[in-house]
Parts: sequence; structure tokens; C-alpha cells
Amino acid sequence: MNHAYARTGRDDSGQFASGAPKLNWESAGRVLASHFADRHVEPLDLSEFTVLSPDGLTWLLALTAWRARQENWATEIHLPRDPRTLAYLRELGFVDLYQLSGGLIVNEFVLWNSEIDRIEDRLRRKFESAGRNSPRFIQRVGSNWQNVIGGVHAYFMEYFPGRLGVDALSDVMWDSRPFQYAVEEIIMNVAVHAGVGFACYRPWRNHPVLRFSCSDVGGGFLATLRHKAVARQPKTDVAAILEGLLYRHYAPESGVIGLYNALEFLRSFRGRLQIHSGSGVVELDLRSQAHQKQFDEGYASGDPAWLRKLCQLRTVPAVAGTHIALDLTTPRAAH
Ligand SMILES: Nc1ncnc2c1ncn2[C@@H]1O[C@H](COP(=O)(O)OP(=O)(O)O)[C@@H](O)[C@H]1O
Ligand SMILES: [Mg+2]
Repeated sequence: MNHAYARTGRDDSGQFASGAPKLNWESAGRVLASHFADRHVEPLDLSEFTVLSPDGLTWLLALTAWRARQENWATEIHLPRDPRTLAYLRELGFVDLYQLSGGLIVNEFVLWNSEIDRIEDRLRRKFESAGRNSPRFIQRVGSNWQNVIGGVHAYFMEYFPGRLGVDALSDVMWDSRPFQYAVEEIIMNVAVHAGVGFACYRPWRNHPVLRFSCSDVGGGFLATLRHKAVARQPKTDVAAILEGLLYRHYAPESGVIGLYNALEFLRSFRGRLQIHSGSGVVELDLRSQAHQKQFDEGYASGDPAWLRKLCQLRTVPAVAGTHIALDLTTPRAAH
């Protein structure tokens, strides 16, 4: 999504090598960690970004909700003035969820413009033709997690086949069930381990990759694993994420799918999983055949050294909460 705005003003992270700053999943950690490092910060000017992607905004929502839980940690943003962008932000659910999460909009008056309503109506009709459950929208995940999962189901049943150009009862659809389970597991984990989070989906039309992202405001993997009997008690966020991925391999429970089993699902759809928790980032990229082979060689063993080697590990400035992006290469793109 492009803004009519040219880039202006300050560059918050100072790290944008190629000019135009974007707020998307990949940049959100860096942008938000540098901007919202403190209790009192300048408002974040959203018009500085050439891209405001739903998964980046989801991240911002979680951080806003987290800050609201601290004492007097206000979060402020400037909205862009472009009515098309504002209509888009409203239709995604961002504006409402942001305010409900305790976020403040410095220039709220830009929303008092009937032009936005008109564009939003058009957008809504367009989205509604894909159904109100169309998982383009950002949703808050809390005690309603079952409804959110219901929306995922509805999406897979109603829209996914059309998007892939296959029949609802086809093998491709059957094969996509693992991805649904992986998504469900991540949503359920928000409810069980973190309390509140936000989920979004980016099944853009003709986009070869399905992305699902989920950000929560919990204490992160390191905190939840601290009280568990795991063989290797992690000391860093990166180690904790790796341990979390392995957890259900070593502590299987009937009726529980768990992240480890979701990995096999990921592999079958040439997927990629990125988890950012605290200051740790773990990326498991199974899009290449070389990585798939490496995956197959160790999956049955659940060997920690194998997983560690398979993943890309990074330590970055800490951000509150846990942020997960799950990508799936759709079968159509594979041909
Ligand atoms: N969103 C999250 N926030 C904090 N910790 C998490 C989160 N998701 C998973 N974890 C940690 O990873 C572990 C493994 O998760 P999972 O495989 O889904 O199994 P389960 O949820 O049944 O414990 C969890 O027990 C928890 O310690
Ligand atoms: Mg779980």
C-alpha cells in the first residue's frame, strides 16, 4: 500500500539504508524498539512510512496495549492525512483497536472528514464481497480466541479455495489443513500464555505467500518457560524460543498439537516461521530444498543442536511481547 506522501522528517531508527521507511513485520521490531524505548516519547508519525502493512500495525497495537498496562506510559501517533490511507487504516480495524488499547491520536481531527467514510464504504463493499470473515482484518485476541479461530476456519473454507483456484474438497485444501492447525496453535498460545494479543492475515489477492501474524503482550517465551521442567533451562530469549519450539516434542500431550508439530506443517508448505520474543529473533525458513532436506534429517529426533543449526538466530533490542509471522507458499505459486 503506498502513501501519497513523500518521506519527510525524522528517521527514528536511523537504520533505513534504502530511503523509504516501511512499517511492516520485518521492520517493526527495529522501528518500534527504537521509538518506544521509554515512558515519555515523541508521537510516532505514521505519515513517515511509505508502507503501513497490517502485520506491522498488529505489532504496534500489541506494543500500545503493553504500554497502557504500565503506569502512565502513553502511546501517541500522528495519523497521515490522506483520506485513502485513513480509510484503509479504519477498515483494517487499526484505528478502533488502537484507541481501545489506550493509544492516543494527536491529530484525531484528520478523521473528521466525510471523504474517508465514502472511501471506507467502497472498501467495505469490496472486502465484504469476500465476506465479513475475510481474514484481512486485524483482530484482538483475548477471551474471544475461539471466535478468532472460527474466522480462520471460515477463511479457509470459503475463500482459500477460490484464491488457489481449486475445489473446496480438493486434495490441495485437505493438504492446507496443517497450516490452519499451525495458525490455531499460535492463536491459542496467545490465550494460554500471554492473555491478550492481535492477529492479522495477509492473504493478498495473487500474492504467492499467505502470511499470518500474531503479536501478544505477554512476558515472552523466556518467562513462560522459566517455571517449566525443561531439560535445558534457557537463559536467553533466543534459547527460550528454540526451547519453546521443541517443548511439545519432549512433553507430548494428547489433544495438544503444539508448535513442534506445527513445524512439520510448515515444511509441507515451504513455509517460514519468524518469532520475535524479548530480544530474541528466531527464523526457520523452509522455502528452499536444501533447508527442507536438513529439516527432514533431524525432525524425528528433535535434536536441539539440529534445530539451532537450522534456524537463523539474532539478538536485537528488546521489545515487549511476542511477535510471530507465519508464511506459507501457496501451491499455486509452487508451479
Ligand atoms: N505467545 C507465547 N508467549 C509466551 N510463551 C509462549 C508463547 N507461545 C508458546 N510459548 C512457550 O512455548 C511453549 C511451547 O508451546 P506449545 O508448543 O504451543 O505448547 P503448549 O502451548 O501446549 O505448552 C509453551 O509452553 C510456552 O512456554
Ligand atoms: Mg500451545
